[in-house]
Amino acid sequence: MEPQSQNLKTAPFLTLGRFHISEDYGFLLPNPLMPLLNCQFLTGYREWRLARLVLSFITMGYVWQDGETQPKEILPRNLALPFVEVSRNLGLPPILVHSDLVLANWATRNPGGPLEIRNLDTIISFPGGESLRGFILVTVLVEKAAVPGIKALVQAVNAILQSSPDSLLQALQRLRVSIQDITGALGQMHDYVDPDIFYAVIRIFLSGWKDNPALPAGLVYEGVSKEPLSYSGGSAAQSTILHAFDEFLGVRHSKESADFLHRMRDYMPPSHRAFIEEICVAPSLRTHVMSSGNGRLLTAYNQCVESLAALRTYHLALVTKYLITAASRAKAQRTSHLPRPPQALEERGTGGTAVVSFLKSVRDKTLETRLHPSG
Ligand code: HEM
Repeated sequence: MEPQSQNLKTAPFLTLGRFHISEDYGFLLPNPLMPLLNCQFLTGYREWRLARLVLSFITMGYVWQDGETQPKEILPRNLALPFVEVSRNLGLPPILVHSDLVLANWATRNPGGPLEIRNLDTIISFPGGESLRGFILVTVLVEKAAVPGIKALVQAVNAILQSSPDSLLQALQRLRVSIQDITGALGQMHDYVDPDIFYAVIRIFLSGWKDNPALPAGLVYEGVSKEPLSYSGGSAAQSTILHAFDEFLGVRHSKESADFLHRMRDYMPPSHRAFIEEICVAPSLRTHVMSSGNGRLLTAYNQCVESLAALRTYHLALVTKYLITAASRAKAQRTSHLPRPPQALEERGTGGTAVVSFLKSVRDKTLETRLHPSG
């Protein structure tokens, strides 16, 4: 009995508040609507990127959760305000872009292990299960395969500035190998991504609200602007890799294609865009190779151009499989167990282009960049 009377003396009175139990609502959380997220506690670039990753996924999920026939036309201010603030801070448009979906959305399972699919995970995902995971992570591997190519650009630009033909030749050979490795990495799409799931489930969550008949006026960002705002959806056309390679090799696209591709640069982190601009103002590789009269440089240059065109031909085949063929199969099988695929997007990419003719033109213009030995 002695211990119990001691307990009675020391025990505090029982109150509900100590247990987060409300006097009025009991176990219900009173007024649970989320307070406005405050961005002032974010410190540094990496935290801003992580915040954007989360907010961009929530936004796409919110807008497209009921399919393309019933998109949400207004983004609530609790989401719109922090998303726009984070986006302004990072110089990115307030919509999911490649740098969210892919560049900031990967983690290694075993940090010491290799960078391959079975040791990788996404941080956030949409519906689409293993195919969505594969789609994001294969693209991560494509970005990784581009690393020696990006370094080769730097080496090559400096080699031209220092008039070092040996270093330039080595850089061009490294660039060619990297482009071929990118094509190899792209091939893993076939192993990890089911075209029907990609087409009917995943694609809509990457869709934007510019030139999209499902949301013709755009999206109202409540508390930001009374007028709807229009932005293109997420696409690997927003990856900096091929933009940098094109500028370096001197590929000139048709006006229409170039307009689209240049617009996609506004969907890149400004520092990555600045890298492309730096390549643009560097001495022209093409002019340098032509005027050098160096046959080995010319061959190495042409091999880079041909590899880049081959990469684009391979990508075109992927697009045919994952969009065009999947679209006609979805049309033919209306009773499929998969949700009805997004109609408005059938002929168009998530970035909003008329896909096949655009991609063919981009590939053909790449090949036209080849130099012909003089004399
Ligand atoms: C299943 C996989 C893929 C599909 C279905 C696909 C689809 C598309 C589509 C429809 C476009 C036209 C632009 C648009 O409307 O967004 C496009 C462009 C582009 N995609 Fe992909 N894509 C895939 C994977 C990738 C990957 C992994 C990369 C590499 C980072 C990539 C790089 C590009 C580039 C650079 C463009 C711009 C055109 C060019 O410069 O050649 N794509 N893609």
